Amino acid sequence: MKVLVTGGAGFIGSNFIRYVLRTRPGWRVVNLDKLTYAGNLGNLADIADDPACSSRHSFVRGDIASRDLVNHVFETERPDAMVNFAAESHVDRSILDPAPFVATNVGGTQVLLEAARRHGVGRFVQISTDEVYGSLGPGDPPFTEASPLAPSNPYSASKAAADLMALAYYRTYGTPVIITRCTNNYGPHQYPEKLIPVIVLSAARERPVPIYGDGQNIRDWIHVEDHCSAVALLMQHGRAGEVYNIGACCEWRNIDLAKALLKAMGRPESLIEFVPDRLGHDRRYAVDAGKLEREVGWSPRHSLAETIPALVEWYQSREPDTPGCTASLAC
Ligand SMILES: NC(=O)c1ccc[n+]([C@@H]2O[C@H](COP(=O)([O-])OP(=O)(O)OC[C@H]3O[C@@H](n4cnc5c(N)ncnc54)[C@H](O)[C@@H]3O)[C@@H](O)[C@H]2O)c1
Repeated sequence: MKVLVTGGAGFIGSNFIRYVLRTRPGWRVVNLDKLTYAGNLGNLADIADDPACSSRHSFVRGDIASRDLVNHVFETERPDAMVNFAAESHVDRSILDPAPFVATNVGGTQVLLEAARRHGVGRFVQISTDEVYGSLGPGDPPFTEASPLAPSNPYSASKAAADLMALAYYRTYGTPVIITRCTNNYGPHQYPEKLIPVIVLSAARERPVPIYGDGQNIRDWIHVEDHCSAVALLMQHGRAGEVYNIGACCEWRNIDLAKALLKAMGRPESLIEFVPDRLGHDRRYAVDAGKLEREVGWSPRHSLAETIPALVEWYQSREPDTPGCTASLAC
């Protein structure tokens, strides 16, 4: 099977490519990525050095919002399936300037859907987010796939718009779309503007660890490899036209996560500095992933608490001063 992966030089896309090349020997991957500030081919350096994997991976630099380029890729590569990870993904940046989020997340997704419709593709997996559901109260049950969409910020609104466009392509043209809505990912290769790398890299330099508001915001965490295994299974066994939540029942308050990371690093909690809250900051996310577990037999294998030492080691060993990094916080 030949799979077109868009956004494969980013955090989750690069982990997905690594995961499928190692677990699906019959799959080939074409990686289409614009290499924005968040894209880095260094995230796939180990793949390039592994002949068993590198021979099944090719890279095309380009913008998913470019019709000509995307049509050319479909004509020349003729993918059997595709998965769209390409996105502007940082909530804070979307609050500063929503336009690139609309261009890539909505416009780019529509260009991909149209190419898939014209050229035909067996599966089109649209990677969405739990953030499209908006915020939960403290005692609310986790979101299910039937929960209404109520995005709070330009990032989540652009992702919700892309979900609706993808479902419209399924209903109107029969394009075999699957939508996944995953919780917050942790693991290697995340761009260092997001919460876990910000905490580790700030603490490593003995600088203040910025935490939004009162630190009581709750996020539901999943290891990036568990996210990738769910997406691969859905590509094979998911039902077209369906939405699947992906989550590992792992809710943490931001303040508790910061304290746990500092403890693992042997740094004092006094480094934590509360900073003015993000505009429109969602209080709590959590999803019910029962549909995914029942339909494709998926279950998560990693625990955040057990992974914290490895996360700390991985980010501490990386160069902290990445160009373009705003060192602000992500959800
Ligand atoms: N990170 C999370 O915790 C999380 C959780 C749920 C869902 N998601 C979703 O998963 C997807 C991947 O997220 P991520 O954290 O890996 O993001 P990321 O910012 O690390 O990577 C995004 C990648 O997309 C590429 N890209 C951006 N615009 C492009 C364009 N116009 N054309 C081609 N490539 C482009 C970038 O170069 C980069 O390689 C996104 O759709 C995001 O909404 C992320």
